[in-house]
Amino acid sequence: MSKKLFIETFGCAMNTRDSEHMIAELNKEEPYELTMDASQADLILVNTCSVREKPVQKLFSELGQYKKQKKEGAKIGVTGCTASHLGAQIIQKAPYVDFVLGARNVSKLAHALHTPKAVEIDIDYDESQYAFGEYRSNPLKAYINISIGCDKQCTFCIVPHTRGDEISIPQELILREAQRAVDSGAKELFLLGQNVNNYGRRFSDNSQKSSFTQLLREVSRIDGVERIRFTSPHPLHMDDAFLEEFASNDKICKSMHMPLQSGSTAILHAMKRGYTQEWFLNRAKKLRQMVPNVHISTDIIVAFPGESLEDFEATLDVMREVQFEQIFSFKYSPRPHTAAIHLPNAIEEAEASRRLTQLQALNDELLDTLAAKRVGNRERVLFEELKSDGYVQGRADSNMLIKVKGSEELLGTLRDVEITQAGRVGNVAKLL
Ligand code: 5AD
Ligand code: SF4
Repeated sequence: MSKKLFIETFGCAMNTRDSEHMIAELNKEEPYELTMDASQADLILVNTCSVREKPVQKLFSELGQYKKQKKEGAKIGVTGCTASHLGAQIIQKAPYVDFVLGARNVSKLAHALHTPKAVEIDIDYDESQYAFGEYRSNPLKAYINISIGCDKQCTFCIVPHTRGDEISIPQELILREAQRAVDSGAKELFLLGQNVNNYGRRFSDNSQKSSFTQLLREVSRIDGVERIRFTSPHPLHMDDAFLEEFASNDKICKSMHMPLQSGSTAILHAMKRGYTQEWFLNRAKKLRQMVPNVHISTDIIVAFPGESLEDFEATLDVMREVQFEQIFSFKYSPRPHTAAIHLPNAIEEAEASRRLTQLQALNDELLDTLAAKRVGNRERVLFEELKSDGYVQGRADSNMLIKVKGSEELLGTLRDVEITQAGRVGNVAKLL
């Protein structure tokens, strides 16, 4: 009987891909079967995120639960961004944890399994050319890393500390991986990097040169690739060449993530984001002019230290002007190893919550207006999931969730639909 793996993944798409990498690494040694039941597992992996404080606090109570549930002899490993930043402290606080592997060290899983109390958290470690095995949780939709780490110094963000400096993966490795994914049935490629449109910034072999725009062009030439998505781009690197490629390349899905963080130029400066409110609005406007059906999503942090009511209002103004189709909004969470932790004028918790609620209420209002206009629109959907209520669900080019009445023969197909009912998040449509 093969061994069993229970793996829990928090955080972003990079972490999801790291979990796939770890599953592939394990299977290079011996076959592991995935289980949803921690008490059945021979190995329990918790792949953590540390971008905000709360999930980090919850980690230890969760590990305590796994300790109680796990079967005799089963191992527990903590991996990912919290592993990078807490390192050996995790084993000090939870001595039953068998190993700790940082976000940039997931290729060392086999070594960690055979080394008692291994802690591998080196952020200079170069995994950019490491030959991971193949494992994909969704063969239709293939995640492909194009860079690792992040060179930005956003003052709120712990990621440069957990994932290290940015290194680009050589273009030929990316193209080979894309081809392999397509050969095994992928219709959609999802290119991943912490700062994806800064691709080409640094290669470990420094004779190479490339840019994200060039890479997009090359990937889209692969036969069989139907759709390309990517995350997360940085508004600062949205130059005209990139926007033109995005607009003119039919294989690129017309959904763009533009993490605003704040609409106030003063706060953007304090966050070291490298752009102003005017630059952001200019890029969003240009994008909407070039791609009228584009969907723009964003991330916003409220109550960054020193955020005045005028600064907060500036964020709401940008929301009204850009009309984002999706917003991920957060209260600022002070993180260790970040510059913002030393800033004065912290906003009180109650006021931070009030701002978040106000922002989300405005977002709901704006989304309702957008939804009303969407009924009757045509969209192209890749169907991925059979729902229990006789519907099949997928994502449109724009990344919107759309479901139609139907059955499993729709799974894996790309179909044109017309929206009959539109909501803030999901939509109902009929097949055309
Ligand atoms: N506090 C709150 N939100 C944060 N994010 C990153 N760091 C913090 C922090 N310290 C948010 C940003 C980022 C998203 C992934 O998480 O909006 O884009
Ligand atoms: Fe979380 Fe950021 Fe690490 Fe992703 S890179 S897992 S969002 S801390």
